[in-house]
Amino acid sequence: MPVALSMKKHLLTLILIGIIAGAFPRYGIEAQSICGCRPDECCNPWSYCGTTDEYCGDGCQWGPCYQSPELNDVSVSDVVTLEFFDGIISQADASCAGKNFYSRAAFLEALGSYNQFGRIGSTNDSMREIAAFFGHVTHETGHFCYLEEIDGPSKNYCDDRFEEYPCNLNKSYHGRGPLQLSWNLNYGASGNNIGFDGLNFPETVINDPVISFKTALWYWMNYAHPYMDLGFGVTIASMKGGHECFDENPEAVQKRVEYYTEYCKQLGVDPGDDLTC
Ligand SMILES: *[C@@H]1O[C@H](CO)[C@@H](O)[C@H](O)[C@H]1NC(C)=O
Ligand SMILES: *[C@@H]1O[C@H](CO)[C@@H](O)[C@H](O)[C@H]1NC(C)=O
Repeated sequence: MPVALSMKKHLLTLILIGIIAGAFPRYGIEAQSICGCRPDECCNPWSYCGTTDEYCGDGCQWGPCYQSPELNDVSVSDVVTLEFFDGIISQADASCAGKNFYSRAAFLEALGSYNQFGRIGSTNDSMREIAAFFGHVTHETGHFCYLEEIDGPSKNYCDDRFEEYPCNLNKSYHGRGPLQLSWNLNYGASGNNIGFDGLNFPETVINDPVISFKTALWYWMNYAHPYMDLGFGVTIASMKGGHECFDENPEAVQKRVEYYTEYCKQLGVDPGDDLTC
């Protein structure tokens, strides 16, 4: 599959150059921006954007492609057993706010809105995606201990450049939920997609456990899922950008990799190559 392979290399180069050059903001990159396409455009296998058959038809990478990808028959709920979920949250201290908030049931209910999560490619690809998601979540929340960023409200994470998502200046868009959703861009866009007012009521993410998991899955599907076959390291780069990669925070990268490989082991799958960034 030389075309697919060279496309992957090309993409990886684009992502890494983009991060190094600071082309992508430090709060994650938008999947669409890798191809440079607008949200209403399709990205073809050579990373060009357009809206006609040659972009949205065969080989369309993302955007409003004509065909949604074929799903495999993995049952994510059979993989994310109560034992698997409890194996994570049981490591959080009894005093943790997350203990009475995050649950497998809330995850499964949220999952109902994201049918491509853990369902693309081979069974092993599915296992790796599930391990990667929970690896990042474990790191972001301290084994489901934290609901929100510890010193969050001291920074309000409002970026005026996202004019379509104007900040409510009385609110703070600091990290909340399983993947610590942050910035007005992500609160606004995930809210529109999920159906809650993320800009005026960002605290919904730590009041409603199903919406909370939905924001994490929304974030994952936009920022990490498209890059899963490039290796776990690229998911760190695509979600955290310059915050952790390129020696900015090697300890955090190492923690993420440890959790990911541990969960791969539990799910009986090889973690693959390119684990760090
Ligand atoms: C922010 O809070 C102030 C004082 O409580 C209030 O007057 C104002 O309307 C609020 N702004 C928004 C956008 O909610
Ligand atoms: C899936 O992963 C397991 C464990 O690494 C391996 O033994 C198996 O061959 C893989 N299956 C396929 C189809 O690659």
